[in-house]
Amino acid sequence: MASNLQLNANGELRHLLSIEGLPREVLLRILDTAASFVGVTEREVKKVPLLRGKSVFNLFFEPSTRTRTTFEIAAKRLSADVINLNIAASSQTKGESLLDTVANLSAMQADLFVMRHASSGAPFLIAHHVKPHEHVINAGDGRHAHPTQGLLDLYTIRHYKKEFSNLTVAIVGDVLHSRVARSLIHGLTTLGAPEVRVIGPRTLLPTGVESLGVRSFLDMREGLKGCDVIVMLRLQSERMRGALLPSAQEFFKHYGLTPEKLALARPDAIVMHPGPMNRGVEIDSNVADGPHSVILPQVTFGIAVRMAVMSMIAES
Ligand code: CP
Repeated sequence: MASNLQLNANGELRHLLSIEGLPREVLLRILDTAASFVGVTEREVKKVPLLRGKSVFNLFFEPSTRTRTTFEIAAKRLSADVINLNIAASSQTKGESLLDTVANLSAMQADLFVMRHASSGAPFLIAHHVKPHEHVINAGDGRHAHPTQGLLDLYTIRHYKKEFSNLTVAIVGDVLHSRVARSLIHGLTTLGAPEVRVIGPRTLLPTGVESLGVRSFLDMREGLKGCDVIVMLRLQSERMRGALLPSAQEFFKHYGLTPEKLALARPDAIVMHPGPMNRGVEIDSNVADGPHSVILPQVTFGIAVRMAVMSMIAES
């Protein structure tokens, strides 16, 4: 369903709503295109004209630092005009519906909508209603999907580890509420990572998570053994209903990544985190700032990955 909406008749990317259902070839094309843009982002003049004359509307109905900013940088590096709608000061506050807001922006000749929304499925709704020449990119919807984060995570893993076919990847923490985890799991399984583990307390692992092709571990020490890649997740307290944890301190004791727990992984393991980090809750500062951490390179790669997605979509 999602893939039909996402791809045009030639199999090209028309919208990016979810990694789930995207063919391996499309994922690899995005990663390869992003690699070509890394060179552009390192040049003194960091602009290419691929989106000249196009208007990109950033619609962030939830807070964001990394995603919103890197989408803006990416669009500007592709020479697009970028409009950041200030949702708090928009007519949404007067009761305008999401569809009416988008219809009005469409009347301003939008070409591409980048949308983050607290409701799972909101970008899908918009993609069903936009005009044929308009495109939608999901920048995170509820607990469902965050495809460009998943793609930049895949890019980072490939950058440091070269191949997916021999990797053991652990995703640790609040998997239940994490759109990042879901997108990354779909990407890793599609690209052939043989062992994807999720580690967390029973209350923060989705029921039946194994059906996604992962192994689940309640014991972090057991789950980290032999891992090549460790992806730490933030506790998504804004999405939690009721008390799922005794306390943040208790969580850190069992599931926080410390140097001592990191030593159980492979000696060349990399540590990732989508951000924002809560130091002392899911990760110790000695790890976050240590030699295994690739958390800030993830952010930098996010620009090239978002340039790749926008340029491919605009060509379709
Ligand atoms: N990783 C991520 O989505 O971060 P932001 O919420 O800051 O965009």
